[in-house]
Amino acid sequence: MVDLLQLSGKQRQFVELLQRRHTVDSLRALCAEAGFDFNFINGFLRSGALDGYVQHQEHTQRTWVLTPKGDELGGVLPGFSLADRLLQGVRDRATLQAELGTTFSLNYGALRREQAVDLVDGDGEGMVAVLKTSVLGAYQQRQAVFGAIAADKSLTEGSAASLGWLQQQGYITSRSETDYSLTVLPNLQTLDLGDVVTALTSERILSGQWRQIDLKPYDIHAEVPDVAYGRPTILNQCIQRIRDIFLNMGFDEMSGYIVESAFWNFDALFTPQDHPAREVQDTFYLATPQTLPLPSDQSLVDRVKQVHEANYGGQWTEAEASRAILRAHTTTSTARRLHQLQGKDGKYFSIDRVFRNETVDRTHLAEFHQIEGVVVGELLSVRTLMGYLTYFYERLGFKDLKFKPTYNPYTEPSLEVFAYHPPSDRYIEVGNSGLFRQEMLEPLGCGNKATVAWGLGLERIAMLLYGVEKLADLIGPDIRLDE
Ligand code: PHE
Repeated sequence: MVDLLQLSGKQRQFVELLQRRHTVDSLRALCAEAGFDFNFINGFLRSGALDGYVQHQEHTQRTWVLTPKGDELGGVLPGFSLADRLLQGVRDRATLQAELGTTFSLNYGALRREQAVDLVDGDGEGMVAVLKTSVLGAYQQRQAVFGAIAADKSLTEGSAASLGWLQQQGYITSRSETDYSLTVLPNLQTLDLGDVVTALTSERILSGQWRQIDLKPYDIHAEVPDVAYGRPTILNQCIQRIRDIFLNMGFDEMSGYIVESAFWNFDALFTPQDHPAREVQDTFYLATPQTLPLPSDQSLVDRVKQVHEANYGGQWTEAEASRAILRAHTTTSTARRLHQLQGKDGKYFSIDRVFRNETVDRTHLAEFHQIEGVVVGELLSVRTLMGYLTYFYERLGFKDLKFKPTYNPYTEPSLEVFAYHPPSDRYIEVGNSGLFRQEMLEPLGCGNKATVAWGLGLERIAMLLYGVEKLADLIGPDIRLDE
């Protein structure tokens, strides 16, 4: 059954051609004449698509082609030129040599091999005697056949003897070729091919014409070229790995705001208002908006003010706390979460971007990602903290960690984290951590709780894990995906 909708453009054209015919003697000849590729049409026929519409009969045809040896002859058989002249009556050896030049001996040798000629002494220089005129005649036949094959012309009747001889000499060889004769059945002649549309244009959709037309279906199984489609960058792969580790450890993901008030970035973290980290050399202050509202929970603001003034002295001002900045760490998200929890237990992490006014170089950018984590509960200690971090880094393949005491305004004790990096045989700083102080927890409503928390550098980990040497290979416009 012809599935008219499935016909390709070429196939339709061919079917239309058949509809105008009743019989086709040679499909090859038809293809050559009408400009179709025989192999394509042959495949179409053999696919069975026209079964019941066209009867076909296979013929195997022998055709002759020149062998490489035959091809080298340049169209003329050795022996022919001499035979031709002998048949014209020329016998004088000197004359023949002059006419044939260097090919004389080649020609003579060919005829001599069939004992058709001989050299005899004559009055003058010598003569070529003809022993077998029939062989000379045969050469005319052979040359005619050979020339026809070389020129790809059809052979005349009675070429059999020459063909056999030429094949024996190794000048030609036979090739068999399949051809078909076709009988186009009446049901194809009367078949209405209709109009099949292959392109669904916007006009056809807008005009509503698409409802009337027969649209060629898409073949979703058709072979298509392989496309190298997009995939996550190294940094995103790394984020996904780390996210999976924390999710598997039972943490929930939290997030926060890139534009924050100094309140959540510093004050809620018990960082004094004259702390050097708050200076413009370190923190990006925004011009628009210049300030952000303080939390609506007035008791939170009051308790933060109290704890600052009681411990650091001086005046704690709402003006300073209201300044809008780009968050300098993701501990802002942790502070907001602690305030939300109001003493409830939980484990949270985030992987987010932070901003610091740093000098940009091979390993530093003014923006990077932090892996933040906090556990709120009871009986949490430095050992708990070290346990979580050791477990996490082990999952990533960093076996050996070292912890070094450090100072943060909001944690006590505070630990810097170093991971051993075998290729460079060094411990590399990968993060900062600690247990939040009462001065921070109490105003946020978690005064009765113990916490462990950390902020780790993502880019550092990614560089170590993937052997990347410059940050520019990790973020920015020139990232290679073929790593
Ligand atoms: N916020 C710290 C930093 O940016 C990291 C940290 C988070 C330290 C939580 C202790 C507790 O370096």
